[in-house]
Amino acid sequence: KIIVLDFGSQYNQLITRRLRDFGVYSELLSHKITADEIKKIKPKGIIFSGGPNSVYDDGAFKVDPAIFKLGIPILGICYGMQLMTYEFGGKVEKADNSEYGRADIKVLDKNAPLFKGLPEKQYVWMSHGDLVTEVPAGFKVTATSKNCPISAIADDERKFYGIQFHAEVRNSEYGLDILRRFAFDVCGAKDNWTMDDFIDLQVDHIRKEVGDKKVILGLSGGVDSSVTAVLIHKAIGDQLTCIFVDHGLLRKNEADQVMNALNRDLGVNIVKVNAADRFLGKLKGVTDPEKKRKIIGKEFIEVFNEEAKKIPDADFLAQGTLYTDVIESGTDTAQTIKSHHNVGGLPKKLGFKLIEPLRKLFKDETRELGEKLGIPHELVWRQPFPGPGLGIRVIGEITPEKLEIVRESDAILREEIKKAGLDEKIWQYFTVLPGIRSVGVMGDGRTYDYAVAIRAVTSIDGMTADFAKIPWDVLQKISVRIVNEVDHVNRILYDVTSKPPSTIEYE
Ligand code: XMP
Repeated sequence: KIIVLDFGSQYNQLITRRLRDFGVYSELLSHKITADEIKKIKPKGIIFSGGPNSVYDDGAFKVDPAIFKLGIPILGICYGMQLMTYEFGGKVEKADNSEYGRADIKVLDKNAPLFKGLPEKQYVWMSHGDLVTEVPAGFKVTATSKNCPISAIADDERKFYGIQFHAEVRNSEYGLDILRRFAFDVCGAKDNWTMDDFIDLQVDHIRKEVGDKKVILGLSGGVDSSVTAVLIHKAIGDQLTCIFVDHGLLRKNEADQVMNALNRDLGVNIVKVNAADRFLGKLKGVTDPEKKRKIIGKEFIEVFNEEAKKIPDADFLAQGTLYTDVIESGTDTAQTIKSHHNVGGLPKKLGFKLIEPLRKLFKDETRELGEKLGIPHELVWRQPFPGPGLGIRVIGEITPEKLEIVRESDAILREEIKKAGLDEKIWQYFTVLPGIRSVGVMGDGRTYDYAVAIRAVTSIDGMTADFAKIPWDVLQKISVRIVNEVDHVNRILYDVTSKPPSTIEYE
């Protein structure tokens, strides 16, 4: 395996991800790890990640200097390269111009292990405010660029390498090749790691950690909590109880699908709580979006707690936290970008020990894991669905009649999008009831009924989004079907705004 030491770059987990994609097991560890601890792990190589600090700042992240004496190859990326330079007596200075984005580099040594067989000229992704201005003794410069004359360094003797650019991001033309060369040629790693190994490792780990105690998990039916549930079930069987709160704001047939896939077919122990009346009662007369969200969130926790209390000896709470959730909520080294808003998320203070087996995975790895665990493709590739559910897709007061309109129209939309083969191409697609009514004509009579809006967006991560360009004929079919099949709808609107300025959801 190859370990990555974390100096706080937003890309650090991406490095481990790339290596795992090559079939080399990799994980991210704190830069505070000692040389002795590393010796026990026996990695084939070490990568120092990038990071937001300057190496000469007070309190800048450093490493245990004994790491350099272990005889293990090291690759420093960005901050990692600067740190190595600084530690070996080279010079790191503030750049005249910070460099963010594409840069063209020229490889100076065609036989340099990291660049062997790659074109002399290639573009890379730079993102730095400091740069190396003098290489330390024993190192030579292996690549250069206009704004960053020392773009890559190498000490072949000790197998220490540095690159100023981010080889791990797609915007570096031969980035993956460079990482491969480090992993296979320099470190001699083997490409024999698979997702099955991850499952074995986690199963083993969960068994050891849980012992004979019990674990509970709040199941939402989403990908993350479902995969977590099945993984933990594989490890400890019926010591796991999932609590599935049906708040009456789920999509059509959703609760049954989840119960069938996980409980009936995979044997996961699930307590389904039918709390629709309770939620709708609390939401009666409430129109303010934030108030609605708060009520749903609070009620969810209460229902969950009441159920959890019925399970004696539950010491552990399992959650489907992914790496992106961890990084977005801020970590030891990374800054907070947005605070995670997950209504299904439970407060830390419930008094349980947490188990989060997906903490190191990305969404697509989680999906791959889910399929490996036998969860149906459809469930694993579901579009995101917010914790407050259809509650924030009925604008204003939620009534059973309005919920029915959103639920039925949404089911038709999903059916047609799937039929058109667009379901895995569009990030999210759903209907919304804006609450406006307008005049229409049906048969020979005047109608005064609701308008339903179609919201469909493409996105990478939900942070920004563009409206999806669904073909007109598909839209037409959807429109005709909703108006004909759903009562009290006489008009269909298509939302053509991106995020920003809109958000994906309406409330
Ligand atoms: P917005 O509406 O903020 O949504 O553009 C961005 C993404 O987040 C989802 N979303 C939520 N997910 N709990 C969740 O688990 C929530 O409270 C919540 N609100 C929005 C939304 O569906 C979109 O994918």
